[in-house]
Amino acid sequence: MDILKPIAVDNWHGEVNNETAQEAIHSLEHGKIVFLPQLNFALSTDENNLLSPALTDPKQKNISLNPHSGKTCGVVGSAPQQTQLNNLLQRYHQHALALVNTLFPSYQKHLTAGRTRLRTVEVSGRSSSYKKDDSRLHVDSFSATPVNGYRILRVFSNVNPHGVARIWQTGESFSTVAKRFIPEIPSISAVEQQLLHLFRITKTPRSLYDHFMLNIHNRMKKSIAYQQSVIKTTLSLPPKSSWIVYTDQVSHAAISGQHVLEQTFYLPPTVMHYPETTPLFVLEEMLKHPLTIKNKERSPLTVAEF
Ligand code: SIN
Ligand code: FE
Repeated sequence: MDILKPIAVDNWHGEVNNETAQEAIHSLEHGKIVFLPQLNFALSTDENNLLSPALTDPKQKNISLNPHSGKTCGVVGSAPQQTQLNNLLQRYHQHALALVNTLFPSYQKHLTAGRTRLRTVEVSGRSSSYKKDDSRLHVDSFSATPVNGYRILRVFSNVNPHGVARIWQTGESFSTVAKRFIPEIPSISAVEQQLLHLFRITKTPRSLYDHFMLNIHNRMKKSIAYQQSVIKTTLSLPPKSSWIVYTDQVSHAAISGQHVLEQTFYLPPTVMHYPETTPLFVLEEMLKHPLTIKNKERSPLTVAEF
């Protein structure tokens, strides 16, 4: 299976014919990366000058915008640089939203935007703990931000001004990953779920879904034997291209590259065209019991990350 599904879109309105739109959503939900080789997010000369790791707070991996509050964090530059970065991230947020809305119109009413990020730190050689090391294959799951079964959809654009591709690797299908790791993950009690929330380790109660996803994420990254033995595909994602992927489903690693923009969206699993492909469905089938917290007054995503 070719992991990349190329789609010929060259503008951020994302207009495609009906057949292409069907193919795009089928590929996306079946764990492919929708690759838009001609979709460039153009930066002005002034903005290109902002592409420096020196402007990123060394304690952070990236500069990020909360598109709901309009606030940017992780910047150590001057006030004008902060404003320019904020404008750049706002513009990327709007473009990524327009793209997803047009390419996947059935998602439109259900999207919750997460953060908009600029990563200017070279991926290779970025020292970090194994849990934060995105150069190891993993599926996305965030320890502080339980998603309760919601999907993590991400739009990326390589804005490298020096012609440098972003090198990714992808691994096995989600169900193969799950079959490998689920048997070794102990469950968690309802009391433990509440305690994590009470002590503010998580922003909302951690569902069983999040418990298993986070364990899969951590155990994949921790096992050197797994990382070395699993069959991988290496992808070269060139500058001036963009790609869209369910990073909770697709096993991925960023190996090298510098200067990428990224927009995260959350989506309820109930709006998928192919619900049987979701990590939630796969895990519930394997474990034979429900994994999400039901009857909550509000979705965990109304508070996620912010
Ligand atoms: C990741 O989502 O693991 C990192 C992606 C990237 O920085 O290219
Ligand atoms: Fe990731």
